[in-house]
Amino acid sequence: MCGIFGAICEDALSDTLKGLKLLEYRGYDSAGVAIKTQHNQLQLTKRVGRVSNVIAATQGLPKVQFAVGHTRWATHGEVCERNAHPFLSQDGRFALVHNGILDNYIQLREQLTQKGVHFVSDTDSEVAVQLLMTKAPLYDDIKDALTDTARMLHGSFAIAVLDSNTDSLYLLRRGSPLYIGISNSGNYLSSDVNTLRYFCSRVGVLEENAFCELNSKGATQYSIDDGRVLPIHYINVKTKQLDKDSQGDAMLSEIAEIPHALQKTFDYLTTTAICPDKSMANNIRRIYLIGCGTAYHSCLIGAQYIRRFCNVTVEAVLASEWWYSYYKADSNTLVVAVTQSGETADTLNAARECKRQGATVYAVTNVEGSTVTFVADKVILTQADNERAVASTKAYACQVLALTIFALQFAETKGLIASEQVADYKADFYALPRAVGSVLAEGDKDIDRVANKLSQSKAVYFIGRGTDYFTAREGSLKLKEVSYIHSEAYASGELKHGTLAMMEKGVTVVGIACDSEVMSRHKATVSEITSRGADVITVTPYCTPNECDTLVIPIVNAIYYPILSVVPLQLLAYKCAVLRGCDADKPRNLAKSVTVE
Ligand code: F6R
Repeated sequence: MCGIFGAICEDALSDTLKGLKLLEYRGYDSAGVAIKTQHNQLQLTKRVGRVSNVIAATQGLPKVQFAVGHTRWATHGEVCERNAHPFLSQDGRFALVHNGILDNYIQLREQLTQKGVHFVSDTDSEVAVQLLMTKAPLYDDIKDALTDTARMLHGSFAIAVLDSNTDSLYLLRRGSPLYIGISNSGNYLSSDVNTLRYFCSRVGVLEENAFCELNSKGATQYSIDDGRVLPIHYINVKTKQLDKDSQGDAMLSEIAEIPHALQKTFDYLTTTAICPDKSMANNIRRIYLIGCGTAYHSCLIGAQYIRRFCNVTVEAVLASEWWYSYYKADSNTLVVAVTQSGETADTLNAARECKRQGATVYAVTNVEGSTVTFVADKVILTQADNERAVASTKAYACQVLALTIFALQFAETKGLIASEQVADYKADFYALPRAVGSVLAEGDKDIDRVANKLSQSKAVYFIGRGTDYFTAREGSLKLKEVSYIHSEAYASGELKHGTLAMMEKGVTVVGIACDSEVMSRHKATVSEITSRGADVITVTPYCTPNECDTLVIPIVNAIYYPILSVVPLQLLAYKCAVLRGCDADKPRNLAKSVTVE
């Protein structure tokens, strides 16, 4: 949450604003930049709302060589210019941007106030820059003042500091990710590895509890604990052109990219060893799939398939609940952490704890070089490419595919399923991207009609059985996330245990019924609902009862329905958002990468 970007180059302000625009999905309630002018003065521009407001406000400023910027997702303090980053030290020497949460900011603020520091914001972050200001005179080298400051901060932080007295940017990292980018035309910093692809191909991953000096010559990293120099781990990333992905209707174009993303992910997964080898597979007694939100829904589907094919105890666990649910991991446990961004704090924390307890940790992620790739023993990379819309769509489809293939390969390794059968499942995959393509190409009119109905409903319920129930949960999350229509998901059989009381005119139920065996039960459920005045829409490849509206999807191998049937639901959510005048790419109160617990 929150995005940090900084640049040392010929036109650092312009590049920083471009970087912030790319990072906007991380937080978009306010934004700001700090530049160092030719007279070594720091100048701040902050605005409430989107980065475009800062871009407008900085029009006409001369080129500068040093800049840092921030997009905010408010945690401490209301959304206003005063609370937007960067923050300036009282003496005007330092400008600072921060991502994370400083747990001891109230104590530090009191101590600094007693020393005569005047705070201008309500944030935890401002404490860091004022603390640094008080430390700077105590040391000959600013680096010592920075490490001293960092040691006094409790909590999580990715911090970048612009110092009017030096030609360096200073970076501090604990708990929150921070990356540097090195190129011939300039050096950069970002809280998101993907953003750096647009500026350079060489990306350095800062260590946990590290401090880094970045200048036009390069970067040096130090340990915050003992000041020793730490080597920087560099990765080469595929560069990208700025205009390709950086504008337009991201959610809709990302749904349209699902067929291609699935094919790429399938090609990668089926030519890479993604499963434990035979001896390890036979030692695994328990598997936990952990994730949050949409990623958790893919865990639910993955767990269902592992249970079905692999004869091993398996459970999907909400990563945010790991600590409160008495789960135990040991050396016979395999934990699969599923996270599109690779940066979700709850997922990372649970994965680290499982590792500490002796488990082997695999990661399914979409972002090469993200934090989870360093936590995990093995990384399964989905190939969905950069996902910018806050609501996950193409990455979700690829996560479900990855876990489906994982279940099949794991069962094959354990000798529980014949290789010919796995080959058949894989052969049947080829129809899936085409089937998604046909939903995208032909579904428009039907989806528009249904979206009209949903957007006027007072509440929407999603129902299904088996994996259809998990798809129902994902459809419901997507709808409420981007259109703000009240929505809940239930296992169909649960309706009569309470929720049927809600069925009346004005309520719409979306049923997912892809399993031919449950169709007769679904028909009975439809009658129970419609006879009470509510409307039903069914997503299915089969014929449906007369009294319900239908979104027909093509027939594919049943194992792939969770990937196919979610697509009309994603489109419905998007279209409802548009009909209700909501920004589907950047829903209120949310951010793409949830790096706070
Ligand atoms: C919803 C959505 C979120 C994320 C969740 C975990 O559309 O995208 O629910 O799935 O915040 O994020 P990752 O997968 O990055 O760990």
